[in-house]
Amino acid sequence: MLSNPGYLAIAAMSAIASLARPAYGQSSNITLFAPPAPLPFLHIELAVAASTFVTDLDGTTGQANNQGGNITGAFSGEILKLGTEFETYPTIANFTESLYDNVFTVNTTDGTPILMSISAHIHYTENALGGASLLLHGFGRIEFQTDSKNYLYLNYGDYIAEFEAVYPSGHASMDVFELKSSGHRA
Ligand SMILES: *[C@@H]1O[C@H](CO)[C@@H](O)[C@H](O)[C@H]1NC(C)=O
Ligand SMILES: *[C@@H]1O[C@H](CO)[C@@H](O)[C@H](O)[C@H]1NC(C)=O
Ligand SMILES: *[C@@H]1O[C@H](CO)[C@@H](O)[C@H](O)[C@H]1NC(C)=O
Ligand SMILES: *[C@@H]1O[C@H](CO)[C@@H](O)[C@H](O)[C@H]1NC(C)=O
Repeated sequence: MLSNPGYLAIAAMSAIASLARPAYGQSSNITLFAPPAPLPFLHIELAVAASTFVTDLDGTTGQANNQGGNITGAFSGEILKLGTEFETYPTIANFTESLYDNVFTVNTTDGTPILMSISAHIHYTENALGGASLLLHGFGRIEFQTDSKNYLYLNYGDYIAEFEAVYPSGHASMDVFELKSSGHRA
């Protein structure tokens, strides 16, 4: 998550910027399944470091070492200061959209180490390098890896994250939801 260019100022939260997209039958009967129910699972407060940028022929990649964080909810623990985020800004989106990947190492309060991977899309309110305000918001897919028998279920659960951050707080807030099927549409 972008957190460093010192020349960016924060303005009021504005609408989330997005690329043009075609309309689709949102409220119609196009689906087999009723909308799945996301159940609150975890809340995470993350410390976020300044990014270092590398630009290549495909765009720009920001990297920042994970600074740790706290987890409450279905289990409690901390995120260790290990690993690095990779955030790719496709040239065509002009720093308003990014693709974010990270693998966090969690240490639960009972001392169980768990890997927590996230693959997300981040949407910025403005061009992240040239805009006057900078709020980011995103959704991501979360996966856990552990062989601890108390947490085995995490390996097979279906989780999504929703998160936001305001520059230049150095913090991001993330919720993790467990997806439950609502069955077939009536
Ligand atoms: C879906 O809804 C539309 C509008 O109510 C209706 O015309 C159509 O027949 C429905 N299609 C199916 C597969 O039920
Ligand atoms: C996590 O909790 C500790 C202890 O309360 C606190 O010092 C730290 O700032 C928290 N970290 C984040 C990222 O919220
Ligand atoms: C993980 O948590 C346990 C229990 O609080 C603690 O004893 C251990 O030192 C922690 N390990 C790391 C790497 O932080
Ligand atoms: C990218 O964003 C900057 C800052 O908002 C703007 O000045 C520039 O015109 C944009 N470039 C394109 C190609 O849209």
